[in-house]
Amino acid sequence: MKIGILTSGGDCPGLNAVIRGAVLKGDRVYGDEFVGFRYGWRGVVEGDMVPLDRHTVRGLSRQGGTILGSSRTNPFEGEGGGPENIQRMMDVNGIDAMIAIGGEGTLTAARRLVDEGGINVIGVPKTIDNDLAATDYSFGFDTAVEIATEAIDRLRTTAESHQRCMIVEVMGRHVGWIALHSGMAGGAHAILIPERPQSIEQICEWVLHVRDRGRAPVVVVSEGFHLDTMEEAHSHKGLDAFNRPRLGGIGELLAPMIEERTGIESRATVIGHIQRGGVPSAYDRVLATRLGIAAVDAAQTRQWGSMVSLKGTDVEIVSIADATGGLNTVPDYRYDEAAVLFG
Ligand code: F6P
Repeated sequence: MKIGILTSGGDCPGLNAVIRGAVLKGDRVYGDEFVGFRYGWRGVVEGDMVPLDRHTVRGLSRQGGTILGSSRTNPFEGEGGGPENIQRMMDVNGIDAMIAIGGEGTLTAARRLVDEGGINVIGVPKTIDNDLAATDYSFGFDTAVEIATEAIDRLRTTAESHQRCMIVEVMGRHVGWIALHSGMAGGAHAILIPERPQSIEQICEWVLHVRDRGRAPVVVVSEGFHLDTMEEAHSHKGLDAFNRPRLGGIGELLAPMIEERTGIESRATVIGHIQRGGVPSAYDRVLATRLGIAAVDAAQTRQWGSMVSLKGTDVEIVSIADATGGLNTVPDYRYDEAAVLFG
């Protein structure tokens, strides 16, 4: 079988390990041939691909980013897009199937290609945010949590030196998994996530408790968190020290509000894309490799429209539709468990 692999959407540590796992298993066990589409669906739509074999994937599991490149191109848009064109491109190049490694957007497109075009696609879930349904964890998340935890540890020592409040903004547009895990690991005094809006009064209460114990408060916030009264927050945006409008994210919004209400000097740090760069953790390398191997097995048994996923400690097959039908949000009991430690 000739299989095309693509990595699409925001990159994520572990993408190369998936590619390596798939190519090594397919090449050694099934005699499969592989190509890699360049820059996600853009490569599919434009027929832009490179050959992949056991030599090109050597040593790849520890390499961050994706050797294929990624983009947020939608395969249903633009010239060359749509199921018919894509099937034609596959026929011309003798490609039997595709392995699409991506998040919600990528997998939704993959599902449509299967449903509307009968195209042979297997999905592999990818998100550092861990927001995809139908998989317990996705690779990249563990690495992101490790990096965010190290940042919290480092910010704590400088916070203590100056008796400041540190607001640490981590990734997580729709869900708070990175904030929850890094905040718990780093011993944060408050964790703020999109699933659980809080009032500024509650946040300041937690911060003041910490100050009253003579400690420097550390607040971890997901980028997608919102106060229960956001209008009030926006009216606080105001001007920065250089008289420019404040344009930052939620961390930079919260710092002056906390400082004004508590009198504690506050600083915001946005960790940003550092969470997505660099080498994957050992856990992510293993998970990504297992998912790559399982994706090739699923192609061998022609389970088109399915996605490989982690259930407990086992890799299983689910339908792509299950993964794109809703978000994997932080359940209340997990937040409440952490919240016992706040303040
Ligand atoms: O979805 C993964 C993610 O890293 C989010 O946490 C973040 O909001 C977003 O991607 C950033 O996207 P971009 O790299 O396009 O700025």
